Amino acid sequence: MTSDHEITEGLRKLGIEVMDLESMKREVRIVRQIGKGTEGDVLLVLFRGEKAAMKVGSFGYPFLMRQVEVMAKVDGAGGAPRVYAACSDRPVILMEYCEGTTLDKFYAIASPADRIRIECDLRTKVVELNAAGYGHGDLNFSNILVCGRPGEHEVRLIDFGNAALMSSRNKNSDLLVIEKRIKFLQAGCDD
Ligand SMILES: Nc1ncnc2c1ncn2[C@@H]1O[C@H](COP(=O)(O)OP(=O)(O)O)[C@@H](O)[C@H]1O
Ligand SMILES: [Mg+2]
Repeated sequence: MTSDHEITEGLRKLGIEVMDLESMKREVRIVRQIGKGTEGDVLLVLFRGEKAAMKVGSFGYPFLMRQVEVMAKVDGAGGAPRVYAACSDRPVILMEYCEGTTLDKFYAIASPADRIRIECDLRTKVVELNAAGYGHGDLNFSNILVCGRPGEHEVRLIDFGNAALMSSRNKNSDLLVIEKRIKFLQAGCDD
């Protein structure tokens, strides 16, 4: 089994800044909680004066750091958040804050034209992520954010806790799942 130290070294090699919790605390100011998922809490923080999302994992160090590895490797594909820093002694990471709303909430109030645009962008982002070598594996609404100003909306896929290297096993899974999600959204609106 890979030790936490080996994981940390791997992250450093991927160009991720690694620091201990005490150093991270000095650089961070908590603004508010933005998410509570199965894997832990997500906080909006100021990191060196800039907005960032801080994920505090509850499934242990290797689990969260694997997500960091995936985010670093896909390098923004699918709108994946950029990683700013990872903690060396706790399952805590700092990443780009994707300010926006979940796809279902966006869809509920979007114009028909915006809905079509965002459906297309969702497909594009999934294809982009898959082309970068990873299947997401958990494309529920809370992991699909719509960000950006009106008219410039774009999809950002987050939460790489179930991501896996593309293989014959997950080849079309993400695409099948999002088609189901899109159908579900379309069925809920009658205009
Ligand atoms: N980088 C981010 N930017 C903005 N909001 C985020 C970000 N990461 C997570 N969140 C928010 O926190 C919630 C939980 O985060 P997530 O990574 O999906 O955790 P879990 O693995 O527990 O589901 C998300 O649904 C989203 O609302
Ligand atoms: Mg999630």
